[in-house]
Amino acid sequence: MAITKDNTPLTKHDLIAVSFTDTAPKSGVTTFLPVFSDNTLSPAAREIDKAGDSFISSYLKAQTKFKGKACQTLLITSGSKNYVLIGMGDAEKLTPRDIEKCGGTAWGMASKIANDTMVLDISNWAKAKSKLESDAVGAHFATGLQLSAYDFPYFKGKSKEDASPVQKLKIITNSAKTSQKRFAEMECATQGQYFARDLVNTPPNFLLPETYAHKIKTRLKPLGIKITVLDEKKMDKLGMGALLAVGQGSSNPPRLVVMEWDGRTGKKAKSDKPLAFVGKGVTFDTGGISIKPSAGMEDMKLDMGGSAAVVGLMETLARRKANTHVVGIVGLVENMPDGNSYRPADIVTSMSGKTIEVLNTDAEGRLVLADALTYVQKNYDPQFIVDLATLTGAMMVALGFEYCGSFVNDNDLWDKMEKASASSTEKLWRMPLDEQWRDQMKSEIADIQNMGKQARYAGACTAAGFLENFIDEGRAWAHMDIAGTAWIKAPTPTAPKGGTGFGVRVLNDFVKQNYG
Ligand code: BES
Ligand code: MG
Ligand code: ZN
Repeated sequence: MAITKDNTPLTKHDLIAVSFTDTAPKSGVTTFLPVFSDNTLSPAAREIDKAGDSFISSYLKAQTKFKGKACQTLLITSGSKNYVLIGMGDAEKLTPRDIEKCGGTAWGMASKIANDTMVLDISNWAKAKSKLESDAVGAHFATGLQLSAYDFPYFKGKSKEDASPVQKLKIITNSAKTSQKRFAEMECATQGQYFARDLVNTPPNFLLPETYAHKIKTRLKPLGIKITVLDEKKMDKLGMGALLAVGQGSSNPPRLVVMEWDGRTGKKAKSDKPLAFVGKGVTFDTGGISIKPSAGMEDMKLDMGGSAAVVGLMETLARRKANTHVVGIVGLVENMPDGNSYRPADIVTSMSGKTIEVLNTDAEGRLVLADALTYVQKNYDPQFIVDLATLTGAMMVALGFEYCGSFVNDNDLWDKMEKASASSTEKLWRMPLDEQWRDQMKSEIADIQNMGKQARYAGACTAAGFLENFIDEGRAWAHMDIAGTAWIKAPTPTAPKGGTGFGVRVLNDFVKQNYG
């Protein structure tokens, strides 16, 4: 079984190489020029227009389709050069999110027409009406372009791997040095997000709990992250009866991976308690004995999306050498039907000591999280915990693919998350926690049951209510149900279809804005 035991880490992570310069390259390039609403030329476009006998303005006058609206594009050839006008809408209203979308759109265009370096000319940006500085514009454009250029070539033939037409983006700006610095930090998150996407896209026979743990170790250890892997024997000793029950039906034993980054320097060193992130890593969710229907079951390889986001976040923090102490924990387990599977009606004892009556083996993610949450609280006493999980179909019904529902027991923690969401392409929406739901999970013959008493109604909320039973009194905690946002079926300007790596960006911003 060479394939299923494959241990090779995913190593190909060639991002489009981005550089910043203050002089225009001389020959054969495709240059992107921003144009605002009603075809108001950006300062750079104006200069080029002037130097070339108004070839841009005359071209614009002779057509009616292109109006400078957000993400509109128009190709103009002049001699040996390709110019692509890229619409940005109202200059005054531009946000980083808009710029990222433009960057993604630019990639869609460039990957078809360019065969050399791409150039974005934003020189003299300060003269435009935008409130954004040119540093931000360059960095976000490049990030959007990189995120859009993501692909997953590992399981295709060799030729496909080498097929990308352009590999370089040069940005002409008046502040090359500071732009470069700002971008370098953002690129750390893009690398983390790429890895998270890779993990989600990897087929489940290549991502068994054991091989997944190995991939994490191979990639994160060299970055200075301490990795501890608990096998089933160690978890058994710790009393993780909930997590172990889920893995019982699989011939691929579960793992719990603990990742620790301590980048504190100066006064901060050894002062405050760590931040904690916990991820659901169900490498494949068949539903177990409460088996899922066959149609669409292949999507359930995404069920480790929460863990992938935690891994990608840890990578990002280490790459940008975040001045803080963070622990990331992922519970990796496969949910399979088998003669040895756990059954509906089983009662299992979690690490917390609480007993859980299993009413549906497809509500497995909460069992995995219960033990991971207990483990992190007992061993690290964190300031707060954020968990991420593709936990319920009900979350997708409620908020679809755009917003991630977030259940938070602490207003201060939510304020910080909301602020990070506002500045990020990843959007969070606060969902309610309520005693009603926490109590609804009380069982008649055990302490807790793993399904709400009102079946699928408020399914995302009862799942959060279940988890709340495993959070210590007074501990700040947020649960992000990423069932709708971890995976997309249709491409967006900044993501091809498949795993999105959702969570890496917004949580990196959240850590950066508040902790270092
Ligand atoms: N992994 C699923 C949730 C899911 C569904 C994620 C669709 C992404 C897309 C989870 O383990 C699950 O099966 N949840 C059940 C819970 C129910 C049995 C209480 C669900 O949502 O149906
Ligand atoms: Mg399930
Ligand atoms: Zn699941």
